[in-house]
Amino acid sequence: MNAGITALGTYVPTKVVTNADLEQRLDTSDEWIQSRTGIQKRHFAEEGEFCSTLAIRAVENLKARYGDHVLDGVDLVIVATATPDAMFPATASLVQAHFGLKAGAFDLLAACPGWLYAISAAQAYVASGTSKKVLAIGAETLSRVINWDDRATAVLFGDGAGAAIIEGVKEGYGFKSFVLGSDGMGADHLHMKAFADCLPSGARMTRKLYMNGREVFKFAVRVMDSASLEAIEKAGLKPENISLFVPHQANARIIDSARERLKLPPERVVVTVQDYGNNSAASVPLALQRALDEGRVQDGDHLLFVAFGAGLSWASCVLTW
Ligand code: ACO
Repeated sequence: MNAGITALGTYVPTKVVTNADLEQRLDTSDEWIQSRTGIQKRHFAEEGEFCSTLAIRAVENLKARYGDHVLDGVDLVIVATATPDAMFPATASLVQAHFGLKAGAFDLLAACPGWLYAISAAQAYVASGTSKKVLAIGAETLSRVINWDDRATAVLFGDGAGAAIIEGVKEGYGFKSFVLGSDGMGADHLHMKAFADCLPSGARMTRKLYMNGREVFKFAVRVMDSASLEAIEKAGLKPENISLFVPHQANARIIDSARERLKLPPERVVVTVQDYGNNSAASVPLALQRALDEGRVQDGDHLLFVAFGAGLSWASCVLTW
């Protein structure tokens, strides 16, 4: 069974935090943040808003866009997140209960590429016949794990969620290729503590996000390029066949470098980092939603998704819309 994305909904919290707001809290400047990252503002969850709240709001947005029937027959819910409400129950179970779905539910932890891992899993469940219709969500409340003593990372992140329906689609449409990758040797560069105090290397962890920005930058530039090319080749296409490139929104410079290496013109790339910052697993669906709302996706277009993050890990995907 050929699977694809048949519906998409998103949500960002109403609270907007501008670079000027961060200047009040940190030794930083709008000029530094914009020139290094392209970010102008981001959204932070309000008190009482958690990962499940954002995920549920994204699904409500999905219903508002497509009608209540859009959830009919959903038999599996996957929530990709690095900032769940709890270690257990799964945030996906909270979403399943909220909408009264007769469905299985689990969370998936693959950091920023998490939603791409979730849609690849959804595709496999549908293709194998195990599931007919999957709700694949990326949702993050990264504002809760920001280390405010580290100005280089504190300015980067925002909160948000995106929810997609994955199900069977017509021949010729849907997912054409997935590439999933990991290099755990890079664990020291990007981590946050759960139950162990140290990584295998002995690097101590804290309950706030740690990132070695320079190392992650070098890795990101390399992998955005190679993972994109691998997914395009696996799909039997060439970079020039890609109608729209929807990359992980971590840093405008990283996106630009990938776009140049793929030799794509700026109008074939979606950039939302200026408005949302880095939303980790929610970043690609939020960018895709923006492109859909702007009428930038036409029937039969080949789309390229790519994301990278902690693990270190990465994922890419080509699909025909
Ligand atoms: N405001 C002002 N100055 C700052 C700030 C700030 N917010 N942060 C750092 N600086 C200063 C530093 O102290 C340093 O000053 P110095 O030269 O006097 O020592 C200078 O700016 C340069 O610092 P660098 O860390 O070298 O800055 P860099 O150019 O590398 O940019 C950044 C930092 C934006 C974090 C970049 O490394 C980056 O984007 N890395 C990739 C991050 C990423 O994409 N992560 C995604 C994965 S996240 C996930 O999976 C959860």
